Amino acid sequence: MLRAAVRTAPRLGRAHSTAAEAFRHVVMQRHAAAAFDATRDVPEAILEDIMQLTRRAPSSFNIQPWTCVLVRSAAQRELVGRAALSESNRRRVMDAPLTAVFCADLEPAHALPRVKAEAIARGKDARQVEDLELAVGYYATHGKLASLVKGVAANALSPVAPAPQPEGRRAWAYKSAMLAAQTYLLAATAHGLATAPMEGFDAARLRAYLDVPARYALPLVVATGYAPPEGPEPPPSPRLDVTDLFFEDRFGARPAAS
Ligand SMILES: Cc1cc2nc3c(=O)[nH]c(=O)nc-3n(C[C@H](O)[C@H](O)[C@H](O)COP(=O)(O)O)c2cc1C
Repeated sequence: MLRAAVRTAPRLGRAHSTAAEAFRHVVMQRHAAAAFDATRDVPEAILEDIMQLTRRAPSSFNIQPWTCVLVRSAAQRELVGRAALSESNRRRVMDAPLTAVFCADLEPAHALPRVKAEAIARGKDARQVEDLELAVGYYATHGKLASLVKGVAANALSPVAPAPQPEGRRAWAYKSAMLAAQTYLLAATAHGLATAPMEGFDAARLRAYLDVPARYALPLVVATGYAPPEGPEPPPSPRLDVTDLFFEDRFGARPAAS
């Protein structure tokens, strides 16, 4: 099946004969950069394209519950460095000309007026728009008690009819924010940039230094720039085997393609 998919993939040109090959190149090229060239800035046109590509990331109900602060000035990078939990993380944000701080919106109801207006503009009827509001309120559950009540209700209903399992608003927001962050990583890599995704930062400090409102959590910081000119490419980091990661039809069953 994989071979058939590769055969039928659209042709792109000589350098990368298929979209899959171009994508493979980007995926294999991306790695967590250990160091950056402190003398080389990210061109505006490249940053603009990365922003345009990142905003195409999927999100739950298309709420897009994320924002990203692009930290570029030396003074602000210095502050981000002060929030680092390790010297290696601090070094990266000090050397990289750009650090993207991804913010996950824990109060997605703020986006509802926009999302509802978009849904109406796209021809959704009043019922569908109302369902959207209910669903967002349901998934992005606020508070332990509400989660507990919804969890009990969902477990009771589940044997009779499919019931959505509630989860905390943080988990809900992180899902979409991290897909945006991954899109950013791949877009930056496609432009020849080095990236270092990092969670090792004091979020309270980061929030204060960057004026991030309290309703946002900070799941990921991505130092971004060019790799230093000297030094060989690092070998790819190890990964679990495909058969450890993928099952077919049932958990634990080996996929036929492996
Ligand atoms: C959510 C997340 C948090 C991470 N936090 C850090 C970090 O604080 N410091 C660090 O050096 N690397 C961090 N990394 C990088 C990982 O260590 C790295 O992605 C992993 O070892 C695989 O290596 P590769 O990205 O080069 O393939 C983080 C990666 C992810 C996805």
